Amino acid sequence: MTNLCNLNGTILPEEKAQVSVLDRGFLFGDSIYEVLGTRRGVPFGIQEHLERLHGSADALMLRMEVDDAALLRRIKQTLAAAKNDESYIRIIVTRGVGTAPNIDVAHALGPCTLLIMVRPLPNLPGSEANLAIVSRLRNDRRALDPAAKSGNYLNNVLGLIEAKQAGAGDALFVNAAGYLTEATTSNIWMVHQGGVYTPPLTAGILAGVTRRLLFDCCAEAGITCAERDISPQQLARADEVFVTSTLRHVFPVTMLDGKAVQDGKPGAVTVQLAERFERFCEQRHQRNDVPLWSKS
Ligand code: PDD
Repeated sequence: MTNLCNLNGTILPEEKAQVSVLDRGFLFGDSIYEVLGTRRGVPFGIQEHLERLHGSADALMLRMEVDDAALLRRIKQTLAAAKNDESYIRIIVTRGVGTAPNIDVAHALGPCTLLIMVRPLPNLPGSEANLAIVSRLRNDRRALDPAAKSGNYLNNVLGLIEAKQAGAGDALFVNAAGYLTEATTSNIWMVHQGGVYTPPLTAGILAGVTRRLLFDCCAEAGITCAERDISPQQLARADEVFVTSTLRHVFPVTMLDGKAVQDGKPGAVTVQLAERFERFCEQRHQRNDVPLWSKS
């Protein structure tokens, strides 16, 4: 069980990996990232995560010098060196080391910094989520679009502090129009009359890979699954609430703003959906021989 880093192609123990004080990721959060988990040693949803990484790079006008084949080779080498049963993988790309602590990208002469962190995959959290809708708004799409997975998570950090101060475990943000967006590191869903609903991308959210796979899973199972603007009042009246993310999969929310959601236990639809989703991901992983990965 090891925590390793691959920093610009060199594999190091996590505590030995260091970036420059002039790295723009450190100075300005001028970076993008992805988080994945392995299944039987193979990164799950690698194609989708790479697509999103490229989308984030485009949104930040950040040129990644390393191509997918080289990136995958580095991930493979780092996983092999770590020898974990299953691994958490964090890919971080920053705009690189600047010539001065100046925000102007004219000072960023490249190359970008590419860091891959590999750690043992944490077990799914054992308890249910307790969310608080915080007063701090989610970043506006016109300011820093949450669809880009940038390394600047200050909005989320501050939201989480506010939620914890309110006695909750995680924050749920609304946008400037008052509709729900997402939690700090997961997408939000509600169950209403057997169907499942989640805010649209236009609300200002990250297009979660788990969210997208859950749409496919529901379509296969004939479960109504749709995007919908959801107000806090609608969420408070929901039959069930859950969140989705790479690390939490489908995860029940049993407390909202200090009140139990229905009877305070994970809802039946959520529990069944979580099981169905596990089977769906497993089958998909077996079916999908991940050519991109095998070739790297
Ligand atoms: N977070 N929304 C936000 C703001 C996120 O940071 C994440 C993922 C999600 C869910 O996306 P996905 O299903 O692709 O994991 C939604 C990862 C897990 C993290 O930052 O650790």
